[in-house]
Amino acid sequence: MAKAGGKRIRRSELLSAFSYALDITEGQPEGHSVRSCWIACQLGEQLGLRRDEQRDLFYAVLLKDLGCSSNAARICNVYLADDRSFKRDFKLVGPKLSDILAFVFSQTASRAPLMSRAKSIFNILINGPAISQELIQTRCERGADIARQLRFSDAVAQGIYHLDEHWDGSGKPDGLVGEAIPLLSRIALLAQVADVFHTHDGPAAATAEVMRRSGSWLDPRLAEAFSALASGSGFWARLASPTLAEELLHSSAAQCQMLAEEDFLDDVAAAFGSVVDAKSPYTSGHSERVAGYCDRIAALVGYDPARRRWLRRGALLHDIGKLGVSNNILDKPAKLDAAEWDLMRQHASHTLSILSRISAFGDLAPIAAAHHERLDGRGYPMGLADNQISLETRIITICDFFDALTADRPYRRAMSAEQALGIISESVGTAVDVTCYQALCRMVEEDSEAPKARPPVGLA
Ligand SMILES: [Fe+2]
Ligand SMILES: [Fe+2]
Repeated sequence: MAKAGGKRIRRSELLSAFSYALDITEGQPEGHSVRSCWIACQLGEQLGLRRDEQRDLFYAVLLKDLGCSSNAARICNVYLADDRSFKRDFKLVGPKLSDILAFVFSQTASRAPLMSRAKSIFNILINGPAISQELIQTRCERGADIARQLRFSDAVAQGIYHLDEHWDGSGKPDGLVGEAIPLLSRIALLAQVADVFHTHDGPAAATAEVMRRSGSWLDPRLAEAFSALASGSGFWARLASPTLAEELLHSSAAQCQMLAEEDFLDDVAAAFGSVVDAKSPYTSGHSERVAGYCDRIAALVGYDPARRRWLRRGALLHDIGKLGVSNNILDKPAKLDAAEWDLMRQHASHTLSILSRISAFGDLAPIAAAHHERLDGRGYPMGLADNQISLETRIITICDFFDALTADRPYRRAMSAEQALGIISESVGTAVDVTCYQALCRMVEEDSEAPKARPPVGLA
């Protein structure tokens, strides 16, 4: 069983800490998933849900945005807009179709040259419904798949899958109507609307918006129950409390004894690594491949299985901070300008702050976040000196470098492993560690001796 500071860790605690990574992907203020989960749990208790239903509700709402990274690149591409601000502002629009269309047209390519804007708007006029279906379907399917990968119940996966269904049948992906929509999804959507409007405009606006969407987006019975709940004393003060995350973990839904065993930590690291990899088509599979390389390099430099397992998690999560960077930058098919580079570099600091708040991964936070540091002190985000960079970080760094060269990028095609070694060799002693470089050479040699045993590098 996993422990942090000698304390056993529950799955609810682990995943509520991870949910902050989903908030930044959605462009939502920090704690959105936790607050939505708390609202949903309050409603679940008020509705008298069984204990197992409350537990499923807890995870369905906490992880409702698990699939959110998978349509980010497409949003940038179709709307020529910043995916994070587009997603953030889109949640404040509706319920009328005319409001949604006005938003889409005002946001589409708003900073692009006139011709690009005209082309994008024309595309949306012709293909709008199909595009919107595709975007939501991708996100829902991906979120439900990851929930299953984490071995949550089908109720949790279905709750996530149907998040965007509307009571009147106008939602997606399946256009379900009324009680055909899973209860968990109906509660999740209401909780999401309430938190978004509360954060943006305060308590009165949140209640008003829930009631305004009652019968169109939201289940009227739930909207009434929420209205009664929200008018009770202390509801909004508790929601805004800085200790809400702790309070949430004391709720009956979070109290079940589902502990985060070592296998579960591996699964969560892999799941969130895949959330990162899904964000950009150009880094598809990157975290997983880097983790695989790190594991082999760690073995070659003499790490024991337990340490390799630990490092593998850090490698899977080394770029989790990219969830806080727009795809306009991640996928830009040209050189980044200085301001864009600044934003890109911030992903390493985001990795540090995301992992630091997760007790089971806290010791990995500085290791993973330092993967762009250099031995000559010219790296980022801290500009660490060589004696401040651990061997574990050096392993991640060289594997990250190797995969960046051997995978396709927006600005160039993948190169061969041998070409990559040639380029990396020029950085030995300045950016990368000599022991790690020698181990990498041995790894590539092993692969070339057994070419059919592994998929071609860069195509995994
Ligand atoms: Fe990185
Ligand atoms: Fe990376």
